[in-house]
Amino acid sequence: MSFVDIITRKRDGRVLSREDIETFVTGVTAASIPDYQASALLMAIMLRGMTHEETAWLTDAMARSGDRIDLSDIPGIKVGKHSTGGVGDKVSIVLAPLAAACGVIVPKMSGRGLGHTGGTLDKLQSIPGYRIDLSIQEFKRVLRDVGTSIIGQSASLAPADKKLYALRDVTATIESIPLLASSIMSKKLAEGSNALLLDVKCGDGAFMKDVGGARALAETMVAIGKQAGIRTEAFITEMDAPLGNAIGNALEIVECIDCLMGVGPVELMDVVTRFATRMVVLAGIDTDPAAAAVRVEQALSSGRGIETFARMIAAQGGNARVVDDPSLLPSAPDRELYRAPRGGYVTRTAAEAIGRASNALGAGRTTVGDPVDHAVGVIMLTRPGDRVTEDQPLLELHHRDGRGLATALAFCRSAIEVADAPPAAHAKVIGEVR
Ligand code: URA
Repeated sequence: MSFVDIITRKRDGRVLSREDIETFVTGVTAASIPDYQASALLMAIMLRGMTHEETAWLTDAMARSGDRIDLSDIPGIKVGKHSTGGVGDKVSIVLAPLAAACGVIVPKMSGRGLGHTGGTLDKLQSIPGYRIDLSIQEFKRVLRDVGTSIIGQSASLAPADKKLYALRDVTATIESIPLLASSIMSKKLAEGSNALLLDVKCGDGAFMKDVGGARALAETMVAIGKQAGIRTEAFITEMDAPLGNAIGNALEIVECIDCLMGVGPVELMDVVTRFATRMVVLAGIDTDPAAAAVRVEQALSSGRGIETFARMIAAQGGNARVVDDPSLLPSAPDRELYRAPRGGYVTRTAAEAIGRASNALGAGRTTVGDPVDHAVGVIMLTRPGDRVTEDQPLLELHHRDGRGLATALAFCRSAIEVADAPPAAHAKVIGEVR
C-alpha cells in the first residue's frame, strides 16, 4: 500500500488504521516520506479530523519515535505541567518552584516562543548564566536536589513531533485538535511524569479561540493521558488579555519574582495557586484540596517558593542573586508610553496584538533561529475594566533605540479599546476537565 492511499483515505474522511499511522510517523521520523506528502496528510487531518482512537495511536507512535526519559529512580510522584501557550504566560516559572516547595517533583521541559506567544525558555534565559541545555543526568540531579528543573526539549524526545510541528507551522495546520493534542501529549508521555496538569488557553491570544474548541482539546488530552496511565487534569483559562502585567522576557521574570514574593498581580496569583493546589493533590501529598491550598499558601508566605526558585537557578548555573536584586536582569534603555485616546473604561487589551507589539520590539522571533532581546517588552499599566482619563498612560513600552517602536505602537493602537461602559467581568479560570 502506498502512502498516497493513506492520504486518500483521510482526504475522503475515512478512519486510518493503527498501521497507517505507524507508517506515517516512522516515515516522517526517518525522513522517508517527503515533506509534501506529510503536509498533505496533515491538511487532510486538519480538515477531516480524527477519532479519539486515531489521535491516541498518533500520540503513542510520536512518543515512541525517540527516547523516553525514565524518572523512576527519583522518589515521589512526578507531576508535569504544560500550557498550550499564550501572551504573558509565565505560570510555569512561578508554579514549578512553588509546587516543588510543597513537596511535588516537577520535571519541566519547555519550549521557545514562536509567533505572538512567549516561551518559557526565552524568559529563563534572560537570567544571566541560566542553562537550559542540561543533560538528562544533570536534569535528574537538579530534580533530586531542588525538586524541580526547567530545561529545553531534548532533541531525541519525540523527534516526529519536531518534524511535524515545523511543517504545521508553515502549512496552516496548527489549529487542529488531533494535531495539537498529539503534539503536546507525545512529548509529555516521553518526559516520564506520573501525572500531568494541562493549561488550555482560550481566546484572542490562544490557538483555541472559543471555549467549545478549548474544552474539546482539553478532553482529548485528558483522555490520552488517562489511556497512557498518567493521571491528567486540565484547566481552561482565558487568554483574551495577557496574563499578568508584564510581556517580554526579563520583564516577566521580574513579575515571577514578585509573585513568589507574594506581591504579584492578583489574577496571576489566583491562577498559580489554583494550579499548585491541584498539583499537590495529583502528587498525592494531600487528598483534600482545602489542605493542599493551605500548604501552597504556607509555601508562598514562608518564602520557601522563592527560595526554591533561587536554588533551581543556581543549580542550573544562573545568577540566583536576581531574586533579591532584579536590577541584575537585562533592562532596556528606553521607554515610550502608549496613552488613552479618550476617557472611559478599558474594554479590550487584545493579547495577540500586545504579544506582537512586544515581539516587534525584539522580544520574540519570527523564524526559529532569530536572536531575542531579553530586555524589551510591554508593561500593562491598566487592565480591562479600569476607568481611565484621556491621555492617561495605558502601556509602557521598553525598547532599544526605537527598534520596532512604530510597528509596536500600531499593534498597541489595534489592541486597546476604551468605551463608555465597563466590560463584563470574568475570571481567568473558565473551566476544568478531570
Ligand atoms: N505546543 C505544542 O507542543 N504543540 C502544538 O501543536 C502547539 C503548542
